[in-house]
Amino acid sequence: MKGIYLDYAATTPVNDEVLQAMLPFFSIRYGNPSSMHQLGITNKKTINESRKTVANCLNVLQEEIYFTSGGTEATNWAIRGYADAYPEKKEIIISQIEHHATLHTCQFLEKKGYKIHYIPVDKKGFISLKKLENSINENTLLVSIIWANNEIGTIQDIKAISEICKNHSVALHVDAVQAFGQIAIDLSLYDISMLTLSAHKFYGPKGIGCLYVKKGISIEPLIHGGSQEQNHRSGTENITGIVGMAKAAEIAISNQQSYYEKLSYLSSRLHQRMIMDFDCVLNGPELGGRRLPGNLNYSFRDIIGTQLTYWLDQNDIFVSTGSACNSDSIEPSHVIKAIKVPDEYIKGTVRISLGNEFLETDIPRVIARFKEGIDSVI
Ligand SMILES: Cc1ncc(COP(=O)(O)O)c(C=O)c1O
Repeated sequence: MKGIYLDYAATTPVNDEVLQAMLPFFSIRYGNPSSMHQLGITNKKTINESRKTVANCLNVLQEEIYFTSGGTEATNWAIRGYADAYPEKKEIIISQIEHHATLHTCQFLEKKGYKIHYIPVDKKGFISLKKLENSINENTLLVSIIWANNEIGTIQDIKAISEICKNHSVALHVDAVQAFGQIAIDLSLYDISMLTLSAHKFYGPKGIGCLYVKKGISIEPLIHGGSQEQNHRSGTENITGIVGMAKAAEIAISNQQSYYEKLSYLSSRLHQRMIMDFDCVLNGPELGGRRLPGNLNYSFRDIIGTQLTYWLDQNDIFVSTGSACNSDSIEPSHVIKAIKVPDEYIKGTVRISLGNEFLETDIPRVIARFKEGIDSVI
């Protein structure tokens, strides 16, 4: 029997239309985009068309999009590249619930003498805007905030955050890896200096993402070599990935509203059963509020989340204990700790994230397996 995949926040399968768009670039359209012959020149054109497509999806300029190897590289580059461009400023502000791409980049800079401010969050994962504003001073280099949290789905008030940063003339980087495709993102409505995307979270391929860098913002390259990506990110372009990302972004934007509604409906149906059948708490904001529509994150009383996840895996239900990067750990993640989940629940955290292939008719099987799983690991 086919398993039930409930880990779309970790990654999504490649959409078939995306795959079809990519295939020629593995075979007949193999030219190096830097080559000065037809095979190269047409591929360079294709890259720039893809750049334009991604730019249109965000409502920004084509030359503001730089392709990278994914979300992690884009975020490393935003923070370190900006720090290198403005070495006189030595303080960075992030939230307590950033993805490891941001957190570990900042910890790396902390060892090099930077001061990192970790803005606390409330029980639902919302950052304190007051503390954010109070942390900004003349030495602040950058604020970097995750738009929608990958573990508990909290959607930050990026409008308010961007206004605070603008009022204090501080650059803002936003990790929109989980947000893109699920909520509306029109960058003309915000004052955001840099923004990270990753294609494999919206039915595109893995290993490709981009960094939006607003015109007028300078960042030093992270990767040196040839003159690709407007001299800012060297290395022969991942054209198959770039074409796939552009196609996936186009589809995600045209389906965003219906995808939001579909996931909201499915998660509310599943949630009703979860809270009825189990002694668990929902982590993050209430459903229908400022929460990613496909995200459900529960802590079960007196359960070890990793044991339950393992049992479910053996029984063909694929969930995650938190962020995929720390799923081997029995320790609650930094996000779960930051929102202060009660002691009796904190180790029993499981993230369910819904996506395209999940059906309402899967819900009874999911609930039945959770019941058996909880009985066997308790
Ligand atoms: C919020 C967030 N930021 C960044 C990343 C990293 O993206 P990538 O897997 O493309 O390196 C992820 C992936 O899990 C994520 O969820």
